[in-house]
Amino acid sequence: MIGRLNHVAIAVPDLAAAAAKYRDLLGAEVKEPRVLAEHGVTVVFVRLDNTKIELMTPLGPESPIAAFLEKNPSGGVHHLCFEVPDLINAAKTLTEAGAHVLGDGKPKIGAHGLPVLFLHPKDFDGTLIELEEIKPDLQPA
Ligand code: CO
Repeated sequence: MIGRLNHVAIAVPDLAAAAAKYRDLLGAEVKEPRVLAEHGVTVVFVRLDNTKIELMTPLGPESPIAAFLEKNPSGGVHHLCFEVPDLINAAKTLTEAGAHVLGDGKPKIGAHGLPVLFLHPKDFDGTLIELEEIKPDLQPA
């Protein structure tokens, strides 16, 4: 069902400082910050050869990651994102197997303008899982 690891998301208390570390210390290609109001976060993508790192920080106290940062004040791995070719089909298979899709169960548009869903961490060994629909023929080289 799942394809490539699309990104690893890390919640950070200071987005500019985290982005600078990846750019200046680790020498990675770091994109401009983007506000994702629907998800309550500001993100910076770090491009690596084989995947991406999504640095994210809360957009205000109502942000879904505000509580995570309260528990992990210095930041931490927040979720993994796997690519799937058919999100609706994946959600159906997983729900039938007893997994829990977060929210209203309907895909939202994620950070890359593609449909995404989140699966409850309790179903995946304590790890929040994001699924992003990427058609295999649209796979970037
Ligand atoms: Co993500």
